Amino acid sequence: MVTIHINGKAVQAEDGEMLLTTIRRQGIDIPALCHHDAVEPCGSCRLCMVEITKKEWNGWSRHVTSCLYPVEAELIIATHTPYLQELRQTIIELYMARSPHSEVIQKMAGEYGITQTRFQTVPDGDNCIMCYACTRICAELGCFAISAAERGHDKVISGPLREAPVDCVGCLSCAQICPTHFIEWTDDDTGRTIWERRFELLACKKCGKKTITKDFAEYQSRKRNLPMSYFDICDDCKRMELSKTMGRIVVSAEEATQ
Ligand code: FES
Repeated sequence: MVTIHINGKAVQAEDGEMLLTTIRRQGIDIPALCHHDAVEPCGSCRLCMVEITKKEWNGWSRHVTSCLYPVEAELIIATHTPYLQELRQTIIELYMARSPHSEVIQKMAGEYGITQTRFQTVPDGDNCIMCYACTRICAELGCFAISAAERGHDKVISGPLREAPVDCVGCLSCAQICPTHFIEWTDDDTGRTIWERRFELLACKKCGKKTITKDFAEYQSRKRNLPMSYFDICDDCKRMELSKTMGRIVVSAEEATQ
């Protein structure tokens, strides 16, 4: 453990953990769109910037992305200077221009008292803010089905060659981690659609609920060396079975002691 100073208060922190984690543990609200505990940080949204200095820096300070900067002993951190607040407002305005219909961005703008953007709005702007949370989680799972394609304003997240991603298994991790809910998907009686691909959904043999795509079950079966029968029953029914078994064991143990 090391001591750092956040907004004038001495705080104990794990040496090497990221500043954003320490700052949030203190209950300090720092906006962050590209950060998620399930994936490695990439520092793309720039909203979590903070000012750091040390006594021996003789008055010099730096601005760093707190999600990517590891804790060091004796760091002195400021999280809400006028410069940082202005910087965050500018970033939010840029996001408003790029993604004018995103509820997440509008909510964030409201929290910062921003009602309109100074920047030229992209008329057909979508809600993708290029935070790469979707591609990072897809890579983390070992699928690498989607990535960034094209450049500059034309940059989009898609499958290879801007076609439906052949390596996608329909797990929905990308859609669930997306902070702006940009990635669309649908489930219906006959299957799941995402990234212009259609997937068969397996039904739980106990309750009949459709929970996982056949492709994802096969992928996990290969990767985790599980029999396909492991996916016959959904997690809810497995938990129910387990609690019933535990109940029976407790009753038998009580009867044995009487
Ligand atoms: S959360 Fe740190 S740059 Fe996005």
